[in-house]
Amino acid sequence: MTDPKPLFDIDSLEASLPINRGDRDALIARGLSLHRLGKTQDAVACFEAARQVAPNDELVLTNLGVSLADCGRSHEAVVVFRQVLKRNPENLYVRHQLRRLISVIVPFWHVRMLNDTHRNDAFDSAIRAAVARKGRLARILDIGTGSGLLSMMAARAGAQNIVACEKVPLIAEAAERIVGLNGFDDRIKVVNKASTELIVDKDLDDRADILVSEIISSDLLAENVLDTFEDAHARLLREDATIIPRAATAVGCVVGSTALDKYAFVNEVSGFDISPFAALSPPRLPVHGIMTSWRRLTDDFELVRIDLTAKKHLPFMCRLAIPVNEDGEAAGVVQWIKLDLGEGVTFSNHPDSYFDGGWLQVLHTFPQVVPVIKGKPLMLTVGHDRISLVIMPSETVSR
Ligand SMILES: C[S@@+](CC[C@H](N)C(=O)[O-])C[C@H]1O[C@@H](n2cnc3c(N)ncnc32)[C@H](O)[C@@H]1O
Repeated sequence: MTDPKPLFDIDSLEASLPINRGDRDALIARGLSLHRLGKTQDAVACFEAARQVAPNDELVLTNLGVSLADCGRSHEAVVVFRQVLKRNPENLYVRHQLRRLISVIVPFWHVRMLNDTHRNDAFDSAIRAAVARKGRLARILDIGTGSGLLSMMAARAGAQNIVACEKVPLIAEAAERIVGLNGFDDRIKVVNKASTELIVDKDLDDRADILVSEIISSDLLAENVLDTFEDAHARLLREDATIIPRAATAVGCVVGSTALDKYAFVNEVSGFDISPFAALSPPRLPVHGIMTSWRRLTDDFELVRIDLTAKKHLPFMCRLAIPVNEDGEAAGVVQWIKLDLGEGVTFSNHPDSYFDGGWLQVLHTFPQVVPVIKGKPLMLTVGHDRISLVIMPSETVSR
């Protein structure tokens, strides 16, 4: 005989009992039960009700913030946590929750990217040249303004009419503050919208003459640059608009690396055959120049070039025969980016000269180690599906 199971555990029971909606303590207790049960939306409703009873109560607001964060309503959670800290800046628990939440909203690389002088100088040169060529009255659209940096470069170069859009409310708010702090709020209008929601005649007074946008990920496409630029060409830009950057290219070389092999492949472990787990290994790994060692087995070669002045982009795959320079065990392709910013300005995070900037190099792992032999080409299938690069060995000619 097995023990009869209770119909409700104590939390479920508590969460289902009738409640006096004017009772702060009861609402908090109910909200906590619902939260523990994973019913975060219902918990939010409970803490919202408690806030009606006690609008500035720290415990109510803290629990409301945590529940909002846990059900994905990040910005509302930020607002609530800030409300607590405004009244009690010493509340270290809430300060910690706020920082934790911000780290979910703002990717870890954003600050490092802002400190990337090499990147910033390249954009600054291209923006200065474009503004000089198109004139101070040229309309500038900055898609994904982040801190407002590229818009402020345009303003410093003399541009008078700049719309800077940023889809993340917390980041747009920071951009607005920074633009004001630097005295450019008369020339830069920060709009907290995704570019795909911008409306000409409302957010912009006309289609833009210059697009400046740095939404290129380390693996080129993951920040949705193709959808974003296609939409901008179709609705937001003049036919003859200057596009910065005008092209983005993924470049790479085939590599061998005993260090990286350990992230990508697995065989025997502690006397067991673990090899089926290798099918679950990651197709891409960030490889920071100073963190990992790897050995080139081929020259550098172009993987995919995207013309960002084009109005439409189709996914494609093609086969490349890559000359092999050294015998070895290929783990995959280490890839980096090259940007053509126009006006003769280029940028690359080539691993020989760029170790510690905002962009990482990326290892596109092969499904298994591919032995290669000097002088025999390696056949690779490369291309993109609009949001990610495709890089796969087609067959191993060299065996
Ligand atoms: C890589 S950061 C670059 C920030 C800034 N442009 C710079 O170069 O310092 C990209 C920013 O663009 C924003 N973003 C990406 N796509 C966007 C879009 N379609 N519309 C508005 N913002 C976008 C992201 O939220 C992020 O803050």
